[in-house]
Amino acid sequence: MTQYLSTNVSKVTTNLLRKMRNEGEKIAMLTAYDYSNARLLDQAKIDVILVGDSAANVMAGYKTTLPITLNEMIYHASSVVRAVERALVVVDMPFGTYQGNSKEALASAIRIMKESGADAVKMEGGVEISESIDRILSAGIPVMGHLGLMPQSINQYGTYTVRGTTEKESEKILNDAQILEQHGCFAIVLEKIPADLAKKVTDTISIPTIGIGAGPHTSGQVLVFHDMMGYSLQFSPRFLRRYHNLSKEIIDSVSNYINDVKTCEFPNEKEQY
Ligand code: KIV
Repeated sequence: MTQYLSTNVSKVTTNLLRKMRNEGEKIAMLTAYDYSNARLLDQAKIDVILVGDSAANVMAGYKTTLPITLNEMIYHASSVVRAVERALVVVDMPFGTYQGNSKEALASAIRIMKESGADAVKMEGGVEISESIDRILSAGIPVMGHLGLMPQSINQYGTYTVRGTTEKESEKILNDAQILEQHGCFAIVLEKIPADLAKKVTDTISIPTIGIGAGPHTSGQVLVFHDMMGYSLQFSPRFLRRYHNLSKEIIDSVSNYINDVKTCEFPNEKEQY
């Protein structure tokens, strides 16, 4: 097995992520929302687990990430934290819990940290959230930023298309990334932006960038676990690499079970008392 900087650490920290970035070791991040999957991801030695507000889509079936509540995110995050020994656990601050003002943002971040035991929080936005970042960091809570496609702002755009394709938009993303770094974010997710822009951002700032649909030049990559495992074949953006076809495996297994029950093949003599 290849040895990486991160291979033998007992706990991934924000400092380790910075070191990995500086030494050119890519950071691997995946989402998890529950105990059982988080345990497997941690056993596989994923660097960072994101308790994403994509739980709203994946776990609850909402069309957007907007409806998920702080209590629901804390429920998912505490389930994940109970499973994880090694990975850095980052939790999304849900829509409506930090945009109002920095005092409200701090209160939400404190609830996440206190009630779930996570390691850090993530927020979407640039200059608009800089005051909240200052306040949250002043309480000793590490903050991950998120730029490019920001699903919590879907109603402002109306589509999930690639961001940063105009000069104005790409300048804002670059400028916001610098602001997030200046205000002390330990890393930034770059979602669905052109690879060249992600490279420019990554080369300009000195904190790690973690891309999703942002090309190969970022300091790391993140995917939604359920998407990369093929739980659903409907969601098929260009950037998604599927590592498994779990939907087929689950449907086949359940069909076999139904058949076994109906034909009295299950339970057999050994499967009873
Ligand atoms: O909520 C989420 O899963 C995310 C990733 C797509 C980065 O923010």
